[in-house]
Amino acid sequence: MSENILEIKDLTLGVTERDGSMAVAVDHISFEVRAGEILGIVGESGCGKSLTVMSLMGLLREDVKALEGQILFQGEDLLAVSEERRREINGKDMSIIYQEPMTSLNPLMRIERQVAEPLRLHGSYSREELHQKALALLTEVGIQDPEACLRAYPHQLSGGMRQRVMIAMATICSPRILLADEPTTALDVTTQAHVLDLLKRINREYGTAILFISHDLGVINRICDRVLVMYAGKIVEAGTNRDILDAPCHEYTRGLIRSIPTRDRKGKELPSIPGRVPSVEDPKEPCPFAPRCRRAMEICHREAPACTRIDQDHIACCHLC
Ligand SMILES: Nc1ncnc2c1ncn2[C@@H]1O[C@H](COP(=O)(O)OP(=O)(O)O)[C@@H](O)[C@H]1O
Ligand SMILES: [Mg+2]
Repeated sequence: MSENILEIKDLTLGVTERDGSMAVAVDHISFEVRAGEILGIVGESGCGKSLTVMSLMGLLREDVKALEGQILFQGEDLLAVSEERRREINGKDMSIIYQEPMTSLNPLMRIERQVAEPLRLHGSYSREELHQKALALLTEVGIQDPEACLRAYPHQLSGGMRQRVMIAMATICSPRILLADEPTTALDVTTQAHVLDLLKRINREYGTAILFISHDLGVINRICDRVLVMYAGKIVEAGTNRDILDAPCHEYTRGLIRSIPTRDRKGKELPSIPGRVPSVEDPKEPCPFAPRCRRAMEICHREAPACTRIDQDHIACCHLC
């Protein structure tokens, strides 16, 4: 059995509504991130993917609360640790990259100081050592002129270069796990492919586990070993990449597969899933997908589906599975 780096148990996140009450945005999700794997979370916008990763990093906004559950990192419950312990873990054992690099980069600071910052915080290195490490890492993430890049300010770099810098910064302390929230969504197709290759290489060479979030199942399938499909705050299907692509059971997963752009569909309208993701305030259905599901039966509006194990890693929560 492979070792788990993170074990999430019954994680439930509530967001504060305008009237002050709490609405459940992430609903009793459980999953593990295994050592060295790339695990994907896929789902349309508004399904709770970002709230989930932010809770793993302990970076939830004040109006979002963990209502229930555990986030076990090597046995330690991250929902219960002190802020001091959290600062020890973040950037060193666990780090995050975002869709928009400027979320983590300071526009007023040269790249050199920013890339080396986690090492300065978590280790004791001389200025020269920090410089050398930053230089080596920028070369490794594929930056052509790393000396010039170290001297630059973020706005002087292209979007793709900023993304590479952010990946360098997130991996400089060799974390056990990297959380990547839509890291390629804002990039053009070529740069997107380079960044995916870079993340794959980091995963292979250093055994860094990656939790990779995207709304695009096509991107997820190119990089992940296992996939969690999330809908309206719940995990509705999970399995290996092959399980999900070749034998999807949940109608939502099937819809996401139909929405992957292919060569012959290029330029034509994508067959999307009619309807929209319910918002957190909407009344809860027993099966959250039932209102949009083309295979929905009477029972789906009456009874929540149990989650059935279809294969070793393959689970689906649907009355038809
Ligand atoms: N701070 C917040 N206050 C209220 N609602 C929020 C807040 N953050 C997120 N939400 C709601 O929670 C749901 C999940 O959001 P999010 O995790 O950002 O989704 P995703 O990353 O999958 O697009 C959405 O319906 C969103 O509107
Ligand atoms: Mg998001």
